[in-house]
Amino acid sequence: MKITKICCIGAGYVGGPTMAVIAQKCPHIQVTVVDLNEQRIADWNDPNPENIPIYEPGLSEIVAEARGRNLFFSTDVDKAIDEAQMIFISVNTPTKTYGKGKGMAADLKYIELCARQIARVAKQNKIVVEKSTLPVRTAEAIKSILDNTGNGVQFQILSNPEFLAEGTAVTDLLNPDRILIGGDTTEEGEEAINALVDVYSNWVSRDRILTTNVWSSELSKLTANAFLAQRISSINAMSELCEKTGADVNEVARAIGMDSRIGPKFLKASVGFGGSCFQKDILNLVYIAKSYGLNEVADYWEQVIIMNDHQKRRFSNKIVQTLYNTVADKKITFLGWAFKKDTNDTRESAAIYVADDLINEQAKISVFDPKVSKNKMLNDLDYLETRISQENIDALSVFENAYEACKGAHAIAILTEWDEFTTYDWKKIYDSMHKPAFVFDGRNILNAKQLESIGFVYNGIGS
Ligand code: UDX
Ligand code: ADP
Repeated sequence: MKITKICCIGAGYVGGPTMAVIAQKCPHIQVTVVDLNEQRIADWNDPNPENIPIYEPGLSEIVAEARGRNLFFSTDVDKAIDEAQMIFISVNTPTKTYGKGKGMAADLKYIELCARQIARVAKQNKIVVEKSTLPVRTAEAIKSILDNTGNGVQFQILSNPEFLAEGTAVTDLLNPDRILIGGDTTEEGEEAINALVDVYSNWVSRDRILTTNVWSSELSKLTANAFLAQRISSINAMSELCEKTGADVNEVARAIGMDSRIGPKFLKASVGFGGSCFQKDILNLVYIAKSYGLNEVADYWEQVIIMNDHQKRRFSNKIVQTLYNTVADKKITFLGWAFKKDTNDTRESAAIYVADDLINEQAKISVFDPKVSKNKMLNDLDYLETRISQENIDALSVFENAYEACKGAHAIAILTEWDEFTTYDWKKIYDSMHKPAFVFDGRNILNAKQLESIGFVYNGIGS
């Protein structure tokens, strides 16, 4: 089947950039991205491409090129489903906050709603592509809903997990390490797989497009994220030992990374990984393993999360201990709130948990982040439900400028590795602070020796 119309349900961090790149690379395909959230769609349609709701380097340029040509953003979900031959489901699948599997399993209610809507609207055969990260065997559930509630048309379900990382989404999409497509091994299944292979092969070479069965594809996504997160927890575990023994974790990472079997990437010790995927996917894996009675497997992977939580808590404890065991009424400045640089996404950011701990110790937190709004920060803290909103408002001040944010502070904590932080006039910042002035570098991006020569007391992770 030759695809000429694609619809994507969900205009978020995955759906938005992925569809923008498909539209740019396949001008012969009409791509419509739909979402229930009217504001989000209005923002994607903002005449100034700089105002699109997701910040990703290079994305606004691609949207500017394709939008209105063959890329459209709309709230008319039914119409887009009806017209498309291929429908991507890219809605959010957060960890459940209620009921069975609370805090562990993925909440599939948005997926199910999508499947029901597709079943209701579709009048012709459709290929439905799972793009969200989903527990293994979700495709089966989607298929069952489509086949049992649909209008008698045929559906093929494909799993096509997204491996893009935020902050580098555009380059990841343009030059993917691999594209993974899982589908049925029947003739119709293979036809559907080929239709999607044809879409990607407009810019990805065929040898990088892997095809598997649906379950392998679904599980590969969880496995990839679990392995990546495990590397971070492994190096973070070593960072604590380094602090005790006088070894330097950056030197250790460099030394082991030169072993070609280990490799140099993803070995940066930090205040802990964040983002919408790692924790959610591992919890999901743990839940699946437990549901099959595989308790050792579940415990093994759960330890990655336990280590990550420990790392965040250890960082806030270190701030309190170093500041003479009290931070009450002290101003502590956070540089960075996003879960990594080059994104405005804050989901599961370590900054939220460190701020929460310090506010519990009655610290006053000042924040500067180049891309995150005050509203988002307050929502993040409110979501933890540790205290009432007003208390968060009282404890948090947000600045438009890093120098202002640092004035009069007792300590600075680096929570995101934004490049601009390394270019600051640190002498000027030091002069404006309370003495002794402390830096807690949760990302090891600053030059410790240089800061110490200015007069700062420097604390890095694992050094
Ligand atoms: C991740 C996967 O990389 C991606 O393939 C998948 O599709 C979605 O989940 P993302 O969460 O966007 O992507 O960003 P990633 O670059 O993986 O970083 C995740 C977190 O780990 C960030 O908080 C980052 O700061 C942290 N990290 C990463 C480290 O602390 N140390 C490292 O060495 C690498
Ligand atoms: P991700 O990082 O997985 O892309 P986001 O939360 O950024 O997650 O985006 C998911 C989007 O999906 C949200 O904008 C949400 O409004 C949208 N969404 C959820 N359910 C539906 C639905 N049934 N129909 C249309 N859009 C939906």
